[in-house]
Amino acid sequence: MENFQTSHRRRRANPHIREIAADVHLSHKEFIQPIFVDEILADRVENEFMTGVFSDTPTTVLRQIENDLKNGVSKFLLFPVPENRYETDFKFDFAAKTIENIKKQFGNDIWLAADLCLCSYTTHGHCGILNEKHDHILNEKTCEVLANYALNLAKSGADCIAPSDMMDGRIKAIRQILDKNEAENTAIMSYSAKFASNFYGPFRDVCKSSPAKNIVLKDRKTYQMDFRNGGDAILSSLRDAAEGADILMVKPALPYLDILTKLRQQTLLPIAIYHVSGEFAAIELLAKNGLIDADAGHLEIWTACKRAGASVIISYKARLAKQILDF
Ligand code: PBG
Repeated sequence: MENFQTSHRRRRANPHIREIAADVHLSHKEFIQPIFVDEILADRVENEFMTGVFSDTPTTVLRQIENDLKNGVSKFLLFPVPENRYETDFKFDFAAKTIENIKKQFGNDIWLAADLCLCSYTTHGHCGILNEKHDHILNEKTCEVLANYALNLAKSGADCIAPSDMMDGRIKAIRQILDKNEAENTAIMSYSAKFASNFYGPFRDVCKSSPAKNIVLKDRKTYQMDFRNGGDAILSSLRDAAEGADILMVKPALPYLDILTKLRQQTLLPIAIYHVSGEFAAIELLAKNGLIDADAGHLEIWTACKRAGASVIISYKARLAKQILDF
């Protein structure tokens, strides 16, 4: 037989064959856009480090969503930022009202997931209720409050509840209360593999949700995952699936693609990946300094997420996904 050299470059030779040879194709339909609504704002403000990401007022958010719909975005993840802070007796009226207003205007044209956590509500910025000494989160009490909060949001029209608090047993508690109260169609997207990451900085600025410096419990490491422990992410995700989660999540994105791929092999549920605020801001900062084309950078990362096994991508640039992908 005659010798021939295998060419891999032939499949890279022009845009057409590259398109055919690609094994990943993204659609803007796979994206979720996070939105922030802040109770104290008189007008919307753009986040300093996250280009194109605004903190909206209950009124301006309606215009934002209207625009997003025109750009092919129909799935949203809402972060309410309430004015008041509490230790125990939480009031969730602002979040509930915000959801009601949004759904009143857009109904089933949009799919609205509501982030469920206490970090924007507590005086100390932790995601749950603390004991008196402020050195320990009360798991059961927090789950109870979260479950009631979830029901409130579901009754206000949320299509999906997305618990990001990381308490044990919250998925079960939420599923039970929803099912008992005729909210059986409200989905749960669990932040099931959420790491105690260094990449949440810009988000915590926007949501005013950093843990207070002057208390015993300084960080979220007793409830969010240790990044040296990949097994925990799989175990916790499978547990959340067994408790009734409809969608699982890996968060942040880039440093955890190995977790995503492993989880993909262990479950048939859809898995969302969250490209978080610090990861997003890093690209925008490179772009501001002329070191990257931001859109191309985001596209490369989104594609990597999909290749690693993501069914859904939560990106602060989801509202440009259609435009970027159509290019
Ligand atoms: C709330 C929550 C956080 C994020 C989503 N939900 C912050 C945190 O856990 O401290 C981070 C999202 C981002 O950085 O984009 N618990």
